[in-house]
Amino acid sequence: MKKLTILGSTGSIGTQTLEVVRHFPQDFEVVALTCGSNVELLAEQVSEFKPKYVCVGNSKKKDLLKMMMPRDVKTKILVGDEGNQFCSTIPEVDIVVAAMVGMRGLPSVLSAIREGKDIALANKETLVTGGSIVMPMAKKKKVKILPVDSEHSAIWQCLMGQPEGALRRILLTASGGPFRGYSREQLEKVTLEQALAHPTWNMGGKITIDSASMMNKGLEIIEASWLFDIPVNQIEVVVHPQSIVHSMIELTDGSVLGQMGFPNMMMPIQIALFHPDRSLCICQPFSPFSEKACSLTFEPCDRKVFRLVDLAYHAGRIGGTLPVAMNAANEAIVAEFLEGRASFLDIERTVETIMEKHEAQGVVPDPSLAEILAVDEWARCIVSEMRK
Ligand SMILES: NC(=O)c1ccc[n+]([C@@H]2O[C@H](COP(=O)([O-])OP(=O)(O)OC[C@H]3O[C@@H](n4cnc5c(N)ncnc54)[C@H](OP(=O)(O)O)[C@@H]3O)[C@@H](O)[C@H]2O)c1
Repeated sequence: MKKLTILGSTGSIGTQTLEVVRHFPQDFEVVALTCGSNVELLAEQVSEFKPKYVCVGNSKKKDLLKMMMPRDVKTKILVGDEGNQFCSTIPEVDIVVAAMVGMRGLPSVLSAIREGKDIALANKETLVTGGSIVMPMAKKKKVKILPVDSEHSAIWQCLMGQPEGALRRILLTASGGPFRGYSREQLEKVTLEQALAHPTWNMGGKITIDSASMMNKGLEIIEASWLFDIPVNQIEVVVHPQSIVHSMIELTDGSVLGQMGFPNMMMPIQIALFHPDRSLCICQPFSPFSEKACSLTFEPCDRKVFRLVDLAYHAGRIGGTLPVAMNAANEAIVAEFLEGRASFLDIERTVETIMEKHEAQGVVPDPSLAEILAVDEWARCIVSEMRK
């Protein structure tokens, strides 16, 4: 029986993690659940899973949740970043599932690693911003970073059993999002509704916009670089609209291995939670003869149209606090876009401006957590000034 804390239990990954737990009640126990504001759903999750602790974004939400929770449940309600950190470090917890959105989750992940918890990592912003602290600390504490992102899960599985030094290249697949094949002129006019209509995956708002802008792939390049200790130049983005091949690796002898399946995040979640064991299939079993899989295509990413991919490569090559500035600018401007206050290409323009400003100011090469948080805050402030 593995004991879990789920950070971001009300989101797309959080709810699918609970669905996995529902299928395997003998294998997992939920000790703590955290969320930002969706206390209605959290109250339902509390009734069903009876965690010892929950954490919500602020004390108003706490009062609301108290009113919604069944009287016989003894769950303790915590609040804010401190509450998240507490839930990440509960002694009896084995795995912390990092399923919150944004780099705000970084301190909680670091606290969990410090306490020796394995991390099932969906939250890519954690490694994009804090990879230089997270990975060495995980190694020192002998904790496993179990990838949940489907591409990284695929790469991880393909690498299992390969000798050290055998990896030559990662072929990171991307659906291409709703605007695959669009020109720059067409991108100028796309709407929020169009950007939210992802062709193959059903995900939270922020990652859906990141997928449409291809920033999601940019973040994943940096995430893969940290997870698999490979320079970003050895990671190639391959547009694969069917989302069946979840990524591939090329070995030094030229052999290429890939991992396949219908797009369903429960699969990588299940693989991470059961690692090193394998469980029974709870997703639609794969068939190469299904309409969705019988014709697989691959094409290069149009980096002249989706310029955020090149900006991410650049951030990954320079490293230090440049990916932090890039990520913060992206989080801030995507939030504006989701609220209808920015255009789609404002995302790219804002990220580029903040990166230029940060490079001019001086990138910090090996940042501490405090320096990461300071650059994150600086970038968000500049974005907010730019939007006035
Ligand atoms: N969705 C996918 O298929 C997918 C695939 C691969 C990787 N990922 C990555 O997984 C992460 C989560 O994505 P998602 O799509 O599940 O996002 P989502 O649906 O937007 O869910 C985000 C979760 O974070 C919670 N949250 C927000 N602010 C918080 C705070 N201050 N403290 C604690 N929790 C907070 C939200 O709570 P409330 O909603 O209650 O405010 C929600 O539970 C992202 O980093 C994403 O890139 C997602």
